[in-house]
Amino acid sequence: MKLHRLLHLAVRCAFLAGVGQANAQIPPLYAGADLVHGEKLIADHQCTACHQKRVGGDGSAMYRPGERVNTLGALRGMVEACNMQLNLGLFPDEVTSIAAVLNRDHYRLK
Ligand code: HEC
Repeated sequence: MKLHRLLHLAVRCAFLAGVGQANAQIPPLYAGADLVHGEKLIADHQCTACHQKRVGGDGSAMYRPGERVNTLGALRGMVEACNMQLNLGLFPDEVTSIAAVLNRDHYRLK
């Protein structure tokens, strides 16, 4: 666990130091989100694989901007709900990072 956190921090620092451009894609409500780590968490927790089973295609049809999820707060809330329901044990900053990736790639909420 400790090593994981250290790695996490190292990745985050490298990210913040290096990639100014990518941060422009993070809305203020998600300040501190780590897009690279968010992408990794989404892959590690099989989010897409499960969604694909339900909706087919690449799974992205599961993400329906403008319906239930129509604000940044609601999007983060959905990710947190999955976190609790699936018992993923994500830290709050990890939930934010995942929400930031979903927003960049699918929801594009302001
Ligand atoms: C075991 C299957 C499964 C896994 C794993 C899973 N999901 Fe889901 N997810 C669902 C189902 C089913 C729904 C639709 C629930 C509903 O309509 O009430 C859903 C809905 C969602 C929504 C709401 C979409 C919308 O616009 O209404 C988000 C966001 C979401 N999942 C994110 C995630 C993330 C992030 C992960 C990984 C950390 C994840 N899910 C892992 C099954 C899964």
